[in-house]
Amino acid sequence: MPRIIGTLPLLGRLLRQFQMSGGLGPRFSREFDMILVTGGAGFIGSNFVLDWLAQSDEPVINLDALTYAGNLRNLVSLEGDARHVFVKGDICDRALIDQLLTTHRPRAIVHFAAESHVDRSIHGPGEFIKTNVEGTFTLLEAARAFWNTLQGDEKTAFRFHHVSTDEVYGSLKPTDPPFAETNPFEPNSPYSASKAASDHLVRAWHHTYGLPVVTTNCSNNYGPYHFPEKLIPLMIVNALAGKPLPVYGDGQQIRDWLYVKDHCSAIRAVLAGGRLGETYNIGGWNEKANIDIVKTVCALLDELKPDAAGPYSRLITYVTDRPGHDRRYAIDARKVERELGWRPAETFETGIRKTVEWYLANAEWVAEVQSGAYKDWVSTNYAARS
Ligand code: NAD
Ligand code: TYD
Repeated sequence: MPRIIGTLPLLGRLLRQFQMSGGLGPRFSREFDMILVTGGAGFIGSNFVLDWLAQSDEPVINLDALTYAGNLRNLVSLEGDARHVFVKGDICDRALIDQLLTTHRPRAIVHFAAESHVDRSIHGPGEFIKTNVEGTFTLLEAARAFWNTLQGDEKTAFRFHHVSTDEVYGSLKPTDPPFAETNPFEPNSPYSASKAASDHLVRAWHHTYGLPVVTTNCSNNYGPYHFPEKLIPLMIVNALAGKPLPVYGDGQQIRDWLYVKDHCSAIRAVLAGGRLGETYNIGGWNEKANIDIVKTVCALLDELKPDAAGPYSRLITYVTDRPGHDRRYAIDARKVERELGWRPAETFETGIRKTVEWYLANAEWVAEVQSGAYKDWVSTNYAARS
């Protein structure tokens, strides 16, 4: 498993010090850069860390508070891997962030950490303001202070990548064009309002202080390690347990769905080549009504794990709608394609099949999440280590 608060191996640190002293040319020193990821034990963050280290040897410092949504089990394949340093901590903890930045001197911060579930934000908005607004503010201030100490190539290369959502743009009417980066912000839920606030802070820190930021606003993700409070994983695990499949309202709300690994590749592309201060919309060109998503999941389960009791669609249950429920999201992702050549690799059909297959193959992960056992496991595993 990843270490809790560790440092890079001595060789790496020594070489880095050598690099800082100007002893190595830029090409060699690149090998010893690293990035700081926040929220890297969550759904998208853990997929990002796994993908990053599958494609590069550049180390990752992973700062995550391990809220209910953070699950170190997602990163079990990195056990003993010195390229991954896990730090349990809060993005509101300025002293900790300062210490991480000055110790590890990352070349970029990729900021995923957030409270992310709309329904939770309706029941308890306070945590969303704390983490998404105050946490992002704290991180920006720490990044600014650190960036101000950098010089030359290091200063030019530094990036703050803010990971955000299409929900900041509000809700579309059926005939509206999809969200472009120029759309006004019209957030409707406490979640989207808190993310919109964080996007504004990031923008202001660029315009006022020159902090080299990029922001991505992505549509709904799905895929492995998705916490089963969100639509797609909830439908899969409820269906397998023979429980009702709760569809809010009339089920005709539309979302644009993106396979999580495509989101990860988009972030890599924007981090590498995005223009400073710009925002990039990321989407899958997959507008689907919720009820069609649920029916697709049911049909795949009928094929891959048929239930003797009958088709899974028998479990579909319409329930009271979410208050303030946004009707339609859709993403115009042409800017990121035009400027950076990014397009999603998966269609919805290939991505949803992979997702259902993953949940069927990872029943133990699901069981631990549902029972809360992954939390017990974290304390058992780490009590003696911190
Ligand atoms: P998630 O809820 O699965 O994970 C969030 C992670 O952040 C968890 O590991 C949690 O422990 C950590 N965290 C929460 N508060 C923290 C704090 N104060 N300090 C440090 N760590 C903290 O979320 P996700 O779905 O992986 O989303 C990641 C990011 O992507 C969020 O910023 C979200 O707004 C954005 N986003 C998500 C989607 C989506 O469909 N899930 C789409 C677009 C954008
Ligand atoms: P969700 O996965 O919570 O993502 P978001 O609210 O960020 O888009 O929900 C996706 C859609 O599915 C949204 O329109 C609400 C709907 N939904 C249901 O119909 N039933 C459910 O049980 C859940 C969790 C969501």
